[in-house]
Amino acid sequence: MDNIQLHIREVLGFLTEQEILNQASLATACNQALHNGSREGSDFLGWVNLPSSITEEEIKDIEDAATVLRTRCEAVVVVGIGGSYLGARAVIDALSSSFDWLEERQSRKNPVILYAGNNIGEDYLYELMDWLKDKEFGIINISKSGTTTEPAIAFRLLKEQLESKVGKEEARQRIVAITDATKGALRSLATIEGYKTFVIPDNVGGRYSVLTPVGLLPIAVAGIDISKLVQGAVEIEKATAPNVSFDYNLPAIYAVIRNLLYKQGKKIEILVNYHPKLHFLAEWWKQLYGESEGKDNVGIFPAAVDFTTDLHSMGQWIQEGERSIFETVISVKKPTHTVQIPYDESDLDGLNYLNGKRVDEVNKMAELGTRIAHVDGKVPNLLIELPELSERYIGQLIYFFEKACGISGYILGINPFNQPGVEAYKKNMFALLEKPGYEEATKAIKQRI
Ligand code: PA5
Repeated sequence: MDNIQLHIREVLGFLTEQEILNQASLATACNQALHNGSREGSDFLGWVNLPSSITEEEIKDIEDAATVLRTRCEAVVVVGIGGSYLGARAVIDALSSSFDWLEERQSRKNPVILYAGNNIGEDYLYELMDWLKDKEFGIINISKSGTTTEPAIAFRLLKEQLESKVGKEEARQRIVAITDATKGALRSLATIEGYKTFVIPDNVGGRYSVLTPVGLLPIAVAGIDISKLVQGAVEIEKATAPNVSFDYNLPAIYAVIRNLLYKQGKKIEILVNYHPKLHFLAEWWKQLYGESEGKDNVGIFPAAVDFTTDLHSMGQWIQEGERSIFETVISVKKPTHTVQIPYDESDLDGLNYLNGKRVDEVNKMAELGTRIAHVDGKVPNLLIELPELSERYIGQLIYFFEKACGISGYILGINPFNQPGVEAYKKNMFALLEKPGYEEATKAIKQRI
């Protein structure tokens, strides 16, 4: 069976094949370092062999917990931020029907999945809680540290709402906590309350955690086959093992090309999709690459657009703005459904030349035409092709991007597994909110405002 493919032809006007091949030993050494833990960040490499180490018992435990939530709840709120939410949302959006959530409760197959704790929007929380008032809902609370402010606020509110609606005992059955094995406020709370819990392994960072219960539980609640998702990831784990030669190691080739383009001044990578369901896949990718590579004053800026939607907003910039960008297009070969453009007697819209064609054929020509235009406009273009949107190929894509990110970070010369910069805003926010323990910082920041 086909795997996802990487097509590099449209970068070859910007780089030679030889330049790419010259990086083979460096990329292979970086891949090996991910497997033998010989470089920086080696305590966060649990994701490298994670797919193949997931056992049937673990899958069953997750599916059983999902069944409890699916049986008791018409809506499940996933509380988490960053790596504790984006992966689940990326997969759920990619593989669910776009309009299922609008269905009446009795005709819906799966609970509605909602998200909270990924912002501090008062109106958002008010409106969410208002909508939940007459709904049977449950909560998956996800935080590795167990102390992140955004999800902690959301969980405090939702827990209180749920308990006063259904009582403490029933609420306990509808709350699952996913956190560190021993540390953090969420672990303590879960122990005291007796929630069902799952562990985020110590050696897997938030943005690499989608194939742990962090992603797998919400994805299973949404009715998606997590075994197939994991199986897809296993396939690319195997296809990128340390003994696989560079020519066949697609994430390594992608990592090399993006670094060569970066050296040429292509400082921004735009991840492009032509499929509205992939919007959050790009959000997940942005976090993965942004948090992994943007440090020590280097790093490609990861941006994303949804085409053809954004061709009508960002298309001009991409075609003719500063030539500091390259594109990576995610293309889905075969849509899941068939819709043909009908014949119209009056043809007032002039569309009869498309009579009988599938909507996807128009989309594909938009994709091809745009790629050619962008390459002509000096935007190097990589293409990742998925045979279809399915659990297996999304699983492959997840591991492809994770592996490429690790290799790319090592090529760049940074530690792709830390994120020291994310603490700066938190320190200021806590100082401004006069959090106990931040007295000195509060004094200092008050002099600046
Ligand atoms: O990738 C990361 O480490 C971050 O995005 C975290 O996942 C995010 O900040 C949430 O942290 P936590 O899971 O500790 O609440």
